[in-house]
Amino acid sequence: MSNSSAGRETWATRIGFILAAVGSAVGLGNIWRFPFQVGQNGGAAFVIMYLAFVVLIGFPAMMVEFVVGRKTGLNAVGGIREFAGGRWKYLGGLFVFIGFVILSYYSVVGGWVLRYVLGSATGRYMAQGPGEYFGQISVGMDALLAHAVFMLLVIGIVALGVKRGIEIAVKIMVPAIIAIFAVLAVYAFTLSGAGEAYSYYLSPDLGYLLDNWQSIVPAAAGQGFFTLSLGMGVMITYASYLSEDENLAIDGGTVVVFNTGISILTGLIVFPILFTAGVDPAAPGPGAIFVSVAEALGDLQFGRLIGVLFFTTVAIAALSSAISLIEVVVSYAIDEFGIARERATVFIGTAIFLLGAPVTIDIVMVDLYDIFAAQILLVLGGILLVTAVAWIYADKAIDELGKGVKSFSGLDKVWLWIVRIPVLVVLLVSLYLGIDGFIEFLQGDFAEFLNSL
Ligand code: PHE
Repeated sequence: MSNSSAGRETWATRIGFILAAVGSAVGLGNIWRFPFQVGQNGGAAFVIMYLAFVVLIGFPAMMVEFVVGRKTGLNAVGGIREFAGGRWKYLGGLFVFIGFVILSYYSVVGGWVLRYVLGSATGRYMAQGPGEYFGQISVGMDALLAHAVFMLLVIGIVALGVKRGIEIAVKIMVPAIIAIFAVLAVYAFTLSGAGEAYSYYLSPDLGYLLDNWQSIVPAAAGQGFFTLSLGMGVMITYASYLSEDENLAIDGGTVVVFNTGISILTGLIVFPILFTAGVDPAAPGPGAIFVSVAEALGDLQFGRLIGVLFFTTVAIAALSSAISLIEVVVSYAIDEFGIARERATVFIGTAIFLLGAPVTIDIVMVDLYDIFAAQILLVLGGILLVTAVAWIYADKAIDELGKGVKSFSGLDKVWLWIVRIPVLVVLLVSLYLGIDGFIEFLQGDFAEFLNSL
C-alpha cells in the first residue's frame, strides 16, 4: 500500500488488505485487554455478551467504516468529510483525538510487553515471582523508559515509511500467534485447575448476567469496538485502498473471525493458569496476561525460549495496531497542514509519549485512560459514524455496499435497518451506561488513588 497524494494504489492483493486490517485489529486488545475484562466482569457472562456484540454490533459497524473508506478513497478524516460533508467534518477531529488518547496508554502497555521479552530472555520474572515482577516493571521509571522505547519504534516505522515491513511481519505474526498460543493452551489444558477454569470461562451464569448487565454491557461494547479497531476511522483508512470488485462483507467477516478466535484462545491460556495458581481471576486486573503467562513459563521446559517467542509475537501484534492508531493522526496532519511525514510523525509521536507519561505513575491510571477511551470515546465515535452513514447518507452507503457483490437479495436493506435501529440503540445505551460507570470509577477507585497521593 502506498500513501495518498500521487495516484493512490489499491491493495495488490485482497489478502494484503485483510492482513493489514487483521494487523490493526489483533493486538493488545485481544491478548492483554480481553482476559482482564473477562476477569473483571464475571467470566463467561461477559464472554457471551462480548460475542453477541462482535457479531451483531461490531460486524455491521465495520461495514459502515468500509463503505466510507472505499467510496471516498480517503483517510479517516478526509473520508468522513467527503462522504458526509458539512458539520460531520468535526467527527474527523474526534477520530484524531481518540487516536491520540488510545495510543498514549497503549504504548505504556506495549512497553510492558517489551520488558517481558527481556524478562523472558534473562528469566528474571521466574526468579523474582511473576506478581512481584509485574508490580515492579509496570510503573515508575521502568515503565516510562519502556513506553519511550515503544513509541520510538512506532515513530521509526511510520516516519521511515517501512509499513511494508510491518505487513510482512503481520503475515508471519498471525500464524505465529495461533501456533504459540495453541501450544500454551494445550499446556494449560493439562493443569489441575483447567476444569474449573473452563466452566468459569465458557459456561455463562445467566443469573450473574441479569444482575450485572449494567456493567457488562458497556464493558462488552467497549471491548468489541476496541478489539475490532472500530469507532475512530481506522477501518475507513484501510478500506480506502480497496477496489470495487471486493465483497466487503466477506472481507469484514474474515477479520472478525480471526480476531475473535485469537481472543478466545488467549482466555484458554490465561484462566486455567490463574485457577491452578489459586488466583481470583479478577485480582490481577490489567496484569492478568503477564502474571499468568509468566507463571506458566516458569513451569515449562524451554520456558524462557517460549517466553521470548510469545512476547515478541505480542509486541509485533501491538506494533501493527499502534501504527494504525498513529496513522489516523499523522495522515490528518499531512493532509490538513501539509506537514512532511517525518516531521509530523516525530512531533505527534512525542506529544503522544507525553500524554502517556502520567499513566506510568500508577496502575489505576491505565484504567482511567482505558475506560474513558474504550467505553466512552470509541462508542461515541461509532454512534456518530453510524448516524451519518446509515441515516443521513444511506443511499450512498447502500450503493457502495452493493459493489463487488453478485446478488444481495435484500441483505443490504437488512444491514441498513440493523445498523439504523438495533445497533444505534444498543450503542446509545452502552454509552449512557459507560459514562455512568466512568463516573463511578472516578468517585471510587480513582478518588481513593488521589487521596493516597
Ligand atoms: N484493535 C487494536 C487491538 O486490539 C487496538 C486499536 C483500537 C487499534 C482502535 C486501532 C483503533 O489491540
